[in-house]
Amino acid sequence: MAGFRLDVEALEAARERAAARALSDEAGTLARRAASGDRLTDDELAVLLLSPRVATAELMAIACARRPPGGPRLETFSPLYLTNECDAECLMCGMRHTNDALVRETADQETVEGQLEILRRRGLRGVALLTGEYHHGPFRRAMIARAAAALCAALARGFTHVLVNIGALEAVEYATLLAGVPRDATGRVLPRLTMCTFQETYQPRAYARFMGTNPENPRSDFLRRLTNFDRACDAGMWVANPGVLLGLHSDLGFELLALLAHVRHLRTRGMEVYVSLPRLRRASGTPYAGAVSDDELCRVVAVLSFGAPEAKVVISTREPPAIQRQLVPMIGVLTPGSPGVAPYTETGARFALEASQFEVLDHRPIEAILGEYLKAGVTIDRYEPAGGA
Ligand code: SAH
Ligand code: TRP
Ligand code: SF4
Repeated sequence: MAGFRLDVEALEAARERAAARALSDEAGTLARRAASGDRLTDDELAVLLLSPRVATAELMAIACARRPPGGPRLETFSPLYLTNECDAECLMCGMRHTNDALVRETADQETVEGQLEILRRRGLRGVALLTGEYHHGPFRRAMIARAAAALCAALARGFTHVLVNIGALEAVEYATLLAGVPRDATGRVLPRLTMCTFQETYQPRAYARFMGTNPENPRSDFLRRLTNFDRACDAGMWVANPGVLLGLHSDLGFELLALLAHVRHLRTRGMEVYVSLPRLRRASGTPYAGAVSDDELCRVVAVLSFGAPEAKVVISTREPPAIQRQLVPMIGVLTPGSPGVAPYTETGARFALEASQFEVLDHRPIEAILGEYLKAGVTIDRYEPAGGA
């Protein structure tokens, strides 16, 4: 099957039409249809997102009411950064190559295994492995091999969900990444392995502004990034996690339409889908900081939650506790942790901004964060704290 393509002009035109409809009486009718359980079209969802006539609280109430019965249910994982080295130049990111202010660190395999042991003892059964992205050559191959070794180490320790967030890979690189992973007779990998590559923005001009245009830069190729899940799928992976970095491009209607199109393509390919909606945070050596309001975040999460229930929304502890509490009833995944390299201790984590990818607002221990939701009656999959829940 052909890789995913975006018709940017058509989506921009659709966004214009949605913005006009958002001002009409139709918006109220759409909200009532959504509340009654109707499946809305992408265009209709964009109307609701953009409509000043439908309150955010109403969208959130619809999303909560349409969650499956049995009470709020989340799953969780924590990030484990293997390194903060990177050859790319994404302007919003503390790890970018040109950031002299960042203290560079790379964890060796023993450290990585120690970190996995700690996360496991602390009850985590899901882990995301992260690196930068690198120029083609021996260093890139070595970093992919490190991710592959960490992946095997995580599976060997009983992690039941491993996410890989290491940039866009070529077909041969998937073979390296997945070499140690068992497969079924059809070639699909057996364990739950999720490929994560957030497009950050689906608008190519905005993408170029932040991720650059120099072909030497491993992150500058918009299309190579966009088609990464197609190669992951061809390589036998069956879970994809696209995402939008909220704050890069102000046109949220466009981003919603593009993300919905991407999700549909991935579902057509038979993949399970998570969607991440990180908000831009302060980072070492960058002038960029948050630009999407709490209200806008709540609207996007609500509309995706009821508009594309087959895609689980992922929210991280980049968000402060008060926002998490508002979002938890609408999302599928809450992911606590630190974007520092090998940051975990038996009881906490290091968050130093000068060695981290970006600032995280919730520094409470993982146990305190997840414990709060357990106490409130939320079921949390892939979390098995030693003392029981
Ligand atoms: N090097 C990999 C791993 C990215 S880390 C890659 O680029 O694919 C995961 C995500 O962190 C990025 O995809 C981006 O969405 C997010 N991120 C980068 N800079 C950020 C910042 N300043 N604030 C919040 N999130 C950021
Ligand atoms: N940036 C990655 C993501 O959003 C890794 C991550 C997951 C993360 N949970 C986090 C980073 C919590 C910081 C804090 O998927
Ligand atoms: Fe590197 Fe990823 Fe940061 Fe871009 S977002 S600079 S590729 S770590």
